[in-house]
Amino acid sequence: MGYQDLRGFLNLLEGKNELVHIKEPVDWDIEIGSISQESIKRGGQAFICENIKDHKDTICKRLTMNYMGNWKRLALAMGMPETTSSGDMVREWRKRHRQLIKPVVVDSGPCKENIVMEKDVDLFQFPVPKLHPGDGGRYALTWHIVVTQDPETDWMNVGTYRGMLLDEKNIGMLLVHVQNWGLHAAKYRERNMKMPVSVALGVDPITTMISGTPYPAGVNEYDVIGAVRGEPVRLVKCETNDLLVPANAEIVMEGELDLDPSSFRLEGPFGEYPGYYSSIDSTPKPVFNVKCITYRNDPIYTSGLIGIGPDLRAADLDYFSAITFSAITWDQLDINRVPGIQDVWFDEDVYGTNVFVSIDKKYYGHAKQVAFAIWSPLSAHYIGKYVVVVDSDIDIHNPKKVWAAIANRTDPLKDIIIIPHTAGGPLDPSVHPDIKMRTGKLGIWNRVLIDATWDDTWEPRPEWGGLNHPPSCLSSERELQLVREKWKLYGFSELM
Ligand SMILES: Cc1cc2nc3c(=O)[nH]c(=O)nc-3n(C[C@H](O)[C@H](O)[C@H](O)COP(=O)(O)O)c2cc1C
Repeated sequence: MGYQDLRGFLNLLEGKNELVHIKEPVDWDIEIGSISQESIKRGGQAFICENIKDHKDTICKRLTMNYMGNWKRLALAMGMPETTSSGDMVREWRKRHRQLIKPVVVDSGPCKENIVMEKDVDLFQFPVPKLHPGDGGRYALTWHIVVTQDPETDWMNVGTYRGMLLDEKNIGMLLVHVQNWGLHAAKYRERNMKMPVSVALGVDPITTMISGTPYPAGVNEYDVIGAVRGEPVRLVKCETNDLLVPANAEIVMEGELDLDPSSFRLEGPFGEYPGYYSSIDSTPKPVFNVKCITYRNDPIYTSGLIGIGPDLRAADLDYFSAITFSAITWDQLDINRVPGIQDVWFDEDVYGTNVFVSIDKKYYGHAKQVAFAIWSPLSAHYIGKYVVVVDSDIDIHNPKKVWAAIANRTDPLKDIIIIPHTAGGPLDPSVHPDIKMRTGKLGIWNRVLIDATWDDTWEPRPEWGGLNHPPSCLSSERELQLVREKWKLYGFSELM
């Protein structure tokens, strides 16, 4: 892969002039978040802050952000040539993630270089940023992995779920009950038990990508990380619970989540992925009580600007999810045996909500089966509000061409189909907040399929050369080749 851990990846970026060391004093209060925002806007480099207000003499003095925020950095993260196209990354991801590789558990690792227990735990030793001005507080957990285990099986889940710093030992967490750790939490709640939780910050980029991707319930995501990295992940057991975390993580927080609503504390609001506050109130949320922290010498904290929205370019989360969501959604179509799929793409400017699929259309109603297969898994509650299906001559990595297909190949009355009242993303700003209360904190989505493929009920026509849709008016390859041969004779300087 060209790197083993976050430090190795940052070194790789540095060698490619993709990383800035910020030595200038910076404030954890909004300034770091604003640097991230401006860097995204300018298409700038990743950065690591090394002189953070209040953190000259704390355990942790450094924080990095934006290190997966363009296609080049993502290709480097996947160990591919820097110029690899997004479509090729999706295909490569699909190839790799099938060959699961079990992790190995090692006795110790860099994340155990320092251990702080119980009364000495002080989260203010870490440069936790307040990212957006309207956030309810400093967000300790935005760019990390959360590890939990099913109390009945050996299924250990890895997911990314946000957390706001409450005090020196506690973090308020957003627990959505249909997410995988929510499934675990329900079982602990039934048993009147607190849920053991470990969090790792500063893991390698592939681990971050898989943590933020909805692999199905029951999948041990460490096996998937091994598959994509092409080698087993090295894990260590936590000090205070049986959970396993990456041995080379920068920081590990161990503790438990109290699921009794009487223990909940106020969390939020937070600038969410669509770029808005879905609610401007803080609401009671479960608390992650940290009992132990282990960390590497001179650890690096990680954070991510999640709330981007239409005003900015895509951020780290958007780039990597475009790849991983496309890969798992393509798999989903295969699992449902929908034939003729040529490409699947979640445009990086809209995290999860819109998906484009190109097909070799094989039969009447083909596009509808594509949409229903995409909507079938539990994780689709926040994925695929709009599904656009096009013919395979349309480049779905170029949204303008998708718009052109919609313009030229749809009759809105029959080709735009709305499926009302399905489960929807809880953070979608177009969903009225009261609806989330009525649905047990999910949104309601009226989902849309736009079938922008040619209508296959039309009859072939001789004047269309036997096609059942109007033919292209462009010159053929044979005609173009003749022109290319004479290109210089025409006076053009070179072949483009
Ligand atoms: C940076 C980042 C922050 C996220 N924050 C949350 C969150 O606060 N709550 C949530 O339910 N999902 C959040 N997600 C999405 C989940 O990580 C994603 O749905 C993932 O699939 C969850 O893992 P799971 O499928 O094992 O439940 C976030 C993703 C990323 C990359």
